[in-house]
Amino acid sequence: MPERNVVTWNSLIAGFVKKDQVFEAFETFRRMQNAGLKFSWVSLTTILVVCARLTALYFGREIHAQIVKSGNSPDLPVLNSLLDMYGKCGELEYCRRVFDGMIYKDLTSWNTVINGYAINGYMAAAMEAFEEMVAAGIRPDEVTFVSLLSGCSHAGMTVEGQLLFDRMQAEFGIVPNLEHYACLVDMLGRAGKIEEAMQVVKRMPMNPSGSIWGSLLNSCRMYGNVSLAELVAKQLFMIEPNNPGNYVLLSNIYANAGMWDKVDLVREFMEKRGIKKEAGCSWIHIKDKIHGFVAGGGFRVS
Ligand SMILES: *[C@@H]1O[C@H](CO)[C@@H](O)[C@H](O)[C@H]1NC(C)=O
Repeated sequence: MPERNVVTWNSLIAGFVKKDQVFEAFETFRRMQNAGLKFSWVSLTTILVVCARLTALYFGREIHAQIVKSGNSPDLPVLNSLLDMYGKCGELEYCRRVFDGMIYKDLTSWNTVINGYAINGYMAAAMEAFEEMVAAGIRPDEVTFVSLLSGCSHAGMTVEGQLLFDRMQAEFGIVPNLEHYACLVDMLGRAGKIEEAMQVVKRMPMNPSGSIWGSLLNSCRMYGNVSLAELVAKQLFMIEPNNPGNYVLLSNIYANAGMWDKVDLVREFMEKRGIKKEAGCSWIHIKDKIHGFVAGGGFRVS
C-alpha cells in the first residue's frame, strides 16, 4: 500500500459517501485516525452530509463526539452539516444546541435550523427561528421559504402559509419559483380549498409541473372530487404519461366513488400502453402518502 496522505484518505471516504456506504465511510475515517493522521474538516463534512441524508444518527453523533474531543473549533461547513444531520434525524434539541453555540452563523445555518424544525413538524419553532433570523438582519432566501411553506402545508397552516407567501414577495422581494407555487397549491388542496388551488395553478407565470398536478390530484382524492380529478389527471398524464402512480391514484379516486367501470378503464389503458405497476408491490408511494390498490370489486392487482 503506497503511503496515504489526508487527501487520498478523503477521496477514499468520498468514494464511500458517493455510494451511500456510511458504515464504510465511517470505518475509513476511523482507520485514518488510527493511522495517526489528523482528520480534516473536509472529511468530516463529507461524512456528515451522508449521515444527514441517511438519517444515520449513530454515526453522526460519533462524528460530533470526535469534533468535541479534538478540541479544535470546526469551520462553518462542518457546523452547518452537523446542524443538518441533527435536524434531518429529528434531534432538534441537539440541533439547536449546536446552533446556539455557533459564534458565526450564515444564511445556510439559519436555513438549516428552520428546515430541521419544519420537516419535523415543529412549525411554531420554525416560524420563531424565522423571525429571529429576520431580526438578526439575515435576509431569507428562496430556500428559507420552501422550508416554511412546505412545513405550513403539512401542518395544515393555510392562513400562515398564505401570509408567508405574500410576505416573501412584498417584504423580501423574492419572486416565487415553481417550488413555492407547488407548496402553495399543495397547502390549499390539502385544506380542501381545491378551487383556490386551481386558481393558483391557472395564474402562476410558469408551466405547472407534474408534481403540482399530482398534488392537486391527491387533493381530489382526499375530498372525493371525481369531476375535477378527471380534468387534473388529463393534464398530469400529458406531463408524466408513464408514471404508474398517477394512474393508481386516479383509479383509487374512481374506486372510492364506486365507479368500477372507470377503474377497469384505467387498468385497461395502463395495460394497452404497457405501463406497469412496480413489480411485486401492491403499494405505491406517491409523495408522502401510500396509496394501495383496491382489491376486489372487479379491480385486480396485476
Ligand atoms: C369539485 O371541485 C370543483 C372545483 O373546485 C367544484 O366546482 C365542484 O363543485 C367540486 N365537486 C364536488 C363533487 O365536490
